[in-house]
Amino acid sequence: MNLSFQDKKVLVRVDFNVPLNSEHQITDDTRIRKALPTLQRILQEGGAAIIMSHLGRPRKKLREDGSIDVERFTLAHLRQHLSDLLGTTVHFCEETIGPKATAAANALNPGEVLLLENTRFNAGETKGDADLAQQMAQLGELYVNDAFGTAHREHASTATVAQYFEKGTKAFGLLMEAEITNANKVLNEPNRPLTAIVGGAKVSDKILLLERLIGFVDHLIVGGGMAYTFVRAQGGQTGNSLVEEDKIDLAAQLLTQAAERGVSIHLPEDSVLADEFNANANRQTTASNAIPEAWMGLDIGPKARQDFGTVLQNSNTILWNGPMGVFEMPAFAEGTQSVALAVASATKNGAFSLVGGGDSVAAVNQMGLADQVSYVSTGGGAMLEFLEGKELPGIKAMG
Ligand code: 3PG
Ligand code: MG
Repeated sequence: MNLSFQDKKVLVRVDFNVPLNSEHQITDDTRIRKALPTLQRILQEGGAAIIMSHLGRPRKKLREDGSIDVERFTLAHLRQHLSDLLGTTVHFCEETIGPKATAAANALNPGEVLLLENTRFNAGETKGDADLAQQMAQLGELYVNDAFGTAHREHASTATVAQYFEKGTKAFGLLMEAEITNANKVLNEPNRPLTAIVGGAKVSDKILLLERLIGFVDHLIVGGGMAYTFVRAQGGQTGNSLVEEDKIDLAAQLLTQAAERGVSIHLPEDSVLADEFNANANRQTTASNAIPEAWMGLDIGPKARQDFGTVLQNSNTILWNGPMGVFEMPAFAEGTQSVALAVASATKNGAFSLVGGGDSVAAVNQMGLADQVSYVSTGGGAMLEFLEGKELPGIKAMG
């Protein structure tokens, strides 16, 4: 973040898209806390911070009369908590752009903070609208993009706005820099063996990731619902488990590619089964390729946990994206928990570990292990696309 902030009005795009409960209270403030170093640096150096973020998808959840549900999606819900974390007053403006926003930005003194209203209240935001971006740009003399979590969106506040700042007046924030640096530790010349753990419900969500990983990892651990499509590709019986019939051939191809490249693919040898998709369902454990009719695999079994644990123990670099089972239900959380513990233990023994992607991050946080892995990403979709090798619009626009 190579800018001099002294006496400057700094427009900062952060990703404060945090979960709120029905009383509009923040249930996980990780993304806010991760943006603090950037904000503190700006303030300490005598700059004023004008903060922009989106929250939710307000234009996809309009009120019945077609208006925006301001009460639900206003950034004002975050003001007090941000103020507490920064230890300073946070001014709020009910506009993102416009006369009030301009006046509020102009009135800021060095060291002061202004939080603007939800960028997505503006129709042009998700379209990357140039007029909107230009008006945003006029609010600040410098632009800092610290919104890694939204870097995969080509929106007015994440991408277009950067065009209106000359070279030398815009920079990535510290979080953005950390995200890129840590992802590159996995992608570029990692310490081997390199193991990727990929989980989640569907193969179709992770095709590009799996294809790319097979090109450079040593071990690929596949868990979660998607594992059963692979088990089927090997001719196994998966009962009522989630299988994407139209992805069985693809799974077979991935298995062949992996074998050709000498990548070891680890599927769960056994599974914890349920007779319905329900936290209180009846349970049993069987081999993952011999699942009886009417039963479905909702978690990896004890043999799989041990097998995956051994692979992780012998890895020097670990990438984890996606849970091993339906970990929101305690009865099917053990597999994901055991992988989280194994990643933490490998990290303690010197491995570099990156956890990226919404659900695996939630699992690590839930277990209080976030500070026992090397890096926890704030990006779900953004980290996935970065790992897939895509150029993220929010990053590209700064070039
Ligand atoms: C996210 O949480 O995925 C980012 O904040 C981006 O939000 P979006 O998926 O609604 O674009
Ligand atoms: Mg998203």
